[in-house]
Amino acid sequence: MLKPSVVKELKNIVGPAYLSTSPEDMVAYSYDATQREVLPWAVARPVSAQEVSKILRLANRDLFPVVPRGAGTGMSGGSVPVNGGLVLSLERMNRILEIDDENLVAVVQPGVVTGELQREVEARGLFYPPDPASNQFCTIGGNVAECAGGLRAVKYGVTKDYVLGLEVVLPTGEIIRTGARTAKSVAGYDLTKLIVGSEGTLGVATTIILRLLPLPECVRTISAFFNTIEDASTAAAKIIASRIIPRALEFVDGHALRAVESYLKEDIAGGATAMLLVEVDGAADSTTRESERIAEIMTRAGAPNVKRAETDAEREQLWKARRAISPALYTIKPKKVNEDIVVPRSRIPDILREIEEIAKRYELLIVNFGHAGDGNIHTNIMIDEVDTPRAESAVKEIFESTLRMGGSISGEHGIGLAKAAYLPMEVGPAALAAMRHIKQALDPNNILNPGKIFMERQDKP
Ligand code: MLT
Ligand code: ZN
Repeated sequence: MLKPSVVKELKNIVGPAYLSTSPEDMVAYSYDATQREVLPWAVARPVSAQEVSKILRLANRDLFPVVPRGAGTGMSGGSVPVNGGLVLSLERMNRILEIDDENLVAVVQPGVVTGELQREVEARGLFYPPDPASNQFCTIGGNVAECAGGLRAVKYGVTKDYVLGLEVVLPTGEIIRTGARTAKSVAGYDLTKLIVGSEGTLGVATTIILRLLPLPECVRTISAFFNTIEDASTAAAKIIASRIIPRALEFVDGHALRAVESYLKEDIAGGATAMLLVEVDGAADSTTRESERIAEIMTRAGAPNVKRAETDAEREQLWKARRAISPALYTIKPKKVNEDIVVPRSRIPDILREIEEIAKRYELLIVNFGHAGDGNIHTNIMIDEVDTPRAESAVKEIFESTLRMGGSISGEHGIGLAKAAYLPMEVGPAALAAMRHIKQALDPNNILNPGKIFMERQDKP
């Protein structure tokens, strides 16, 4: 609990209207998309870097945890206040400060909703490629904290590839600037890259400078349904091997298709066992050529039914279904263990085979979908209470298979709470110690988002 005198000081910093301890607010800020839920002691909604800085200085003086939060759409528990403390919601810092058409740069506050930024820049013929499935709700600040990936990473990369610089409040309250609003900068260590993806443990980004691209002239979307997972995963591997880099190459298995159909109450897949959703962009003639080639590869791989979206409405319909998978899975079981393993792209058929074998052995329903073009599969073990211990063993085996194939346990959701126990499996003791040293150097009192990434939930504060 926060001392009444600290609550009073926090009210003085952000204004009484923006510091809450009401039970309903504590519930509203207690969870993210993992369904983990821990009540904070208070919620502050600052409006400037200076306010964030004062809050963090106070937290270092009185030793209480501060947990930064965007829209709470995270998939690894990053914004869950696992040790209680103060939730620092960046929701009021939601302004697009500048779109610089001449230099292809946007400057935004962390609470800007990603989809809103996409729409704003697209209206000016510009393009912000990172596109998490939750783009209509998630915020740029959360995307920066987790280094969000999303649907267009196969061609355009992930959030870190677009962050040129930051204004960051360090855990001890100093306000620093990293990077520059230029195309290049190698002045000292790359603190921008250190902060992006640090899951709100090393600093709070209060201004974000983003690189933009010209909006591609033309986009074409192709979907194909398959009778077997094997055919779909082979087609995905062949598309990549054909030297075409689509801007999206998504795989959805039959369980996920059925779940979306029942969630949206629409027939989408006509009983198919797998779907690929592929999108190419660029000049009109090259997209025509590439989409024809992709359709041919999918047909040869056994897709009886390859379709090209002819209108924007058809295209939107396909993406709406894809973006709805995550919530739709709850129509199957009340809980899911959602992993986001990533393997070298050519190994997708192998990892899917191994996952199927693990599912059979542990008698679990495992749903797979995701960014086949990146080798990044969202492996969802659908569970209720009785399945939980078997699910834990299955996760460990899936991670072992992933690492054996040269992959990584998290492509885009982060480690957070959900994967902290498994991080040592991937990085080993020396790298883990280096990461801990960095945390210790920047946050000596372990104030900022404690209990994330590392297994040390019992640590002070
Ligand atoms: C997605 O690609 O839909 C997201 O990463 C969410 C999820 O894994 O459920
Ligand atoms: Zn994803």
